[in-house]
Amino acid sequence: MRKKIKNLTILFTLALIVGAGLISFANAQRRQNNMQKMTAGETFAEDVHSYSNPQAVRVRHVELDWNVLFDKKILQGTATLSVERTTKTENAPLVLDTRDLRIEKVETSNGGNSYQKTEFNVGAADKILGSPLTIQLPPNANLVRIYYSTSQNASGLQWLAPEQTAGKRAPYMFSQAQAIHARSFIPLQDSPQVRVTYSARVRTPKNLLAVMSAEGNSQTAARGGDYKFRMPHAIPPYLIAVAVGDLQFRSLGKRTGVYTEPAMIEKSVFELADTEKMVAATEKIYGAYRWGRYDLLVLPPSFPFGGMENPMLTFATPTILAGDKSLVSLVAHELAHSWSGNLVTNATWRDFWLNEGFTTYLERRIIEAVYGQPRREMEATLGRNSLEEEMASMATRDQILHVDLKGRDPDEGFTGVPYEKGALFLRYLEETFGREKFDKFVRGYFDSHAFQSITTADFVDYLNKNLIAANPQSAKRVSIEDWIYQPGLPTNAPQPVSDAFIKVEALAKNYTSDKTAANKIQTRAWTTQEWLHFLKSLPADLDVKRMSELDKAFNLTNRGNSEIAFQWLLMSIKNDYSAAYPRLEEFLTTIGRRKFVRPLFAELAKTPEGTKRAVAIYTKARSGYHPITQASVDEILKWKNQ
Ligand code: BES
Ligand code: ZN
Repeated sequence: MRKKIKNLTILFTLALIVGAGLISFANAQRRQNNMQKMTAGETFAEDVHSYSNPQAVRVRHVELDWNVLFDKKILQGTATLSVERTTKTENAPLVLDTRDLRIEKVETSNGGNSYQKTEFNVGAADKILGSPLTIQLPPNANLVRIYYSTSQNASGLQWLAPEQTAGKRAPYMFSQAQAIHARSFIPLQDSPQVRVTYSARVRTPKNLLAVMSAEGNSQTAARGGDYKFRMPHAIPPYLIAVAVGDLQFRSLGKRTGVYTEPAMIEKSVFELADTEKMVAATEKIYGAYRWGRYDLLVLPPSFPFGGMENPMLTFATPTILAGDKSLVSLVAHELAHSWSGNLVTNATWRDFWLNEGFTTYLERRIIEAVYGQPRREMEATLGRNSLEEEMASMATRDQILHVDLKGRDPDEGFTGVPYEKGALFLRYLEETFGREKFDKFVRGYFDSHAFQSITTADFVDYLNKNLIAANPQSAKRVSIEDWIYQPGLPTNAPQPVSDAFIKVEALAKNYTSDKTAANKIQTRAWTTQEWLHFLKSLPADLDVKRMSELDKAFNLTNRGNSEIAFQWLLMSIKNDYSAAYPRLEEFLTTIGRRKFVRPLFAELAKTPEGTKRAVAIYTKARSGYHPITQASVDEILKWKNQ
């Protein structure tokens, strides 16, 4: 009996050993396949905005452990990086990007059982790029743990005092990593071609909720101050995001929902009601949504952008809460990034148009699918007009899609060119090859480059092989050279046409004060887009009497719609319409969205009296602005940080 058991045990053990061997062989095989897959799209492109050396050592996974310290306004903790030597350079150190980080110590490990201290060096700080962090890496090390804390003025974080939030009771913190601000809160290889998975443990005050661009966001009211997250897909570092505050969740659909402060939750739920429909509409054209949930976080008004496509959790400005769903093309835009940008990513900031041009094109296709073709044409017209206006006073080198950003902050590439010229190029391809063929092409492009970072040259290559070569007749009309490598707009660029706008233009052109009553009737059913086009179509110079008439007839100074208010306030500064100045001050001291704040200050700064007014307003507003918005306005007003 005993012997039998013993034999059985031996047999069993043997089977286990063989089985385990087989499994580990299979795993190794699979890993190798994965590796090949991973490395297939992993060509190295020179990135002038990163010090890192992924050609030699590459970060694959980032594990974060943070304490969120509101009293000190810092994140403090560790980042543990899984690294892999990509070449046989056994002695190459690991080079990371950092900005204003305090590095306490660095350890390395093989496998993670024990860690040993290692040498590191923080290089001189460059104003744009920050400092390289060079870490000595023993040949067999595959884990690097960095003990660090952020600085109070980390460019990628904003810390809000309770008074600066909607609820006024709890503090708030949020990150904004694009383009090169991830390095101000995580030491990593901050180049969009170094894709990483990540996991995080975030400790906060007990009453607050932490959310991230990952799995693990809580939908319940329970709080505890200890939160865990996991992003299973390899993403570029600029998509790592975190926010902490007094947040509440509400569902919008089966895989969509919204987080925001309780004071803004009802308004947000109403405004974002079409989100689930948008996801379905996008899937129908471009294939499955691959990220699980699509939630939004509606931030406090100091959020410096309109929206940020952080995966699984879009960050959005509260200035889209117009009360009539008229500004939700921003949701369509950030959602579209789940395909263009997050799935297929620009390899460097030169290739930014691949992210934003595709996304602006997709955004309008989503708008068409959900709200109809007339709405798409209105928004496309507004887009093309603002592009032309902007390009009129823009250096030619910045009018190029494949823009040269060497020696410059990639935030300078944030113009209408990658967005609107990029979208026009794709619309041009759609019109040239026909929607059916073009949609198939774009879907194939997403599928074949999923979870890869690519350059403009990679795209051109794919375009040539899969659309141009297959349709030589239509292809004759397409000049890739003009669209991608030359300034300005090619003469055959698409011209969107909106019937509604043609009527608006007629009214703006013939606008005279004695017809106010009749005009009022015509404007009664106008959408936000028609109002914007009307204001932009009015003569540039209007005297105060005329401004005042317009204001009385259409109640423009008191509009709550942020886009309309912004356009009217800009006109008010240009025409010195002082009745709008109290509203201007209120607008600038409560909203920190850079797209609004920067042009208003720039317009004020054109005259000596305006500059005085600007300085007075900025003195009050500055501390409430995000570092990114501060940097822009500092430059306009030549502000010296006192
Ligand atoms: N990814 C951008 C925001 C961004 C770009 C931040 C570059 C930092 C550097 C986002 O998708 C975006 O384009 N937002 C727009 C709104 C959109 C509707 C055009 C914005 O914030 O204005
Ligand atoms: Zn975008």
